[in-house]
Amino acid sequence: MKSGNKMPGNNMTGRSGPGGQTSGEADPVRRRFLARLGMAAGTLLAIAAGLPVIGYILEPAFRRMQRQWVSVGPVDRFAAGDTVLVSFENPRALPWAGVTAKTGAWVRRVGDTNFIAFVLNCSHLGCPVRWEPSSKLFICPCHGSVYYADGTVAAGPAPLPLQRFHVRVNNGQVELETRPIPIT
Ligand code: FES
Repeated sequence: MKSGNKMPGNNMTGRSGPGGQTSGEADPVRRRFLARLGMAAGTLLAIAAGLPVIGYILEPAFRRMQRQWVSVGPVDRFAAGDTVLVSFENPRALPWAGVTAKTGAWVRRVGDTNFIAFVLNCSHLGCPVRWEPSSKLFICPCHGSVYYADGTVAAGPAPLPLQRFHVRVNNGQVELETRPIPIT
């Protein structure tokens, strides 16, 4: 027999697998299949192990998305036309937040039972703004942003007007609807 001819069911290695398939051809295919199977199993295991952790991390975020009404005092506390600083406990604060759970708002009475309320925090980086009654402006002490009385931006780096709370009067109490406040 010439040296270039192959015997049926044989290859260069001379080994033959079951069913006449040579191990030289089958091994790379089997190895690739087993490697992919291993990767798929590993991925599934990682997802299964990570789900409780992801749930633990995300659950407070979903819980905190809820809106909640908080009382900031009786209607009589607010004189018509005045802009008054109120403080209240953030209902979404974590139990260990301590004093940082305190937040505030600027509330203005514009009618018998009509109020508007501005979020305390500057839309730039969140510093608390103060109301200047003489100039009727909100001033941010951090980087100089200035807001008009209606909360729109008058000057400074603030990219957005002051956010507002929804306000209602309930059983003689002024209530704000708190929610997560986006800061740029
Ligand atoms: S935080 Fe108010 S101007 Fe920057």
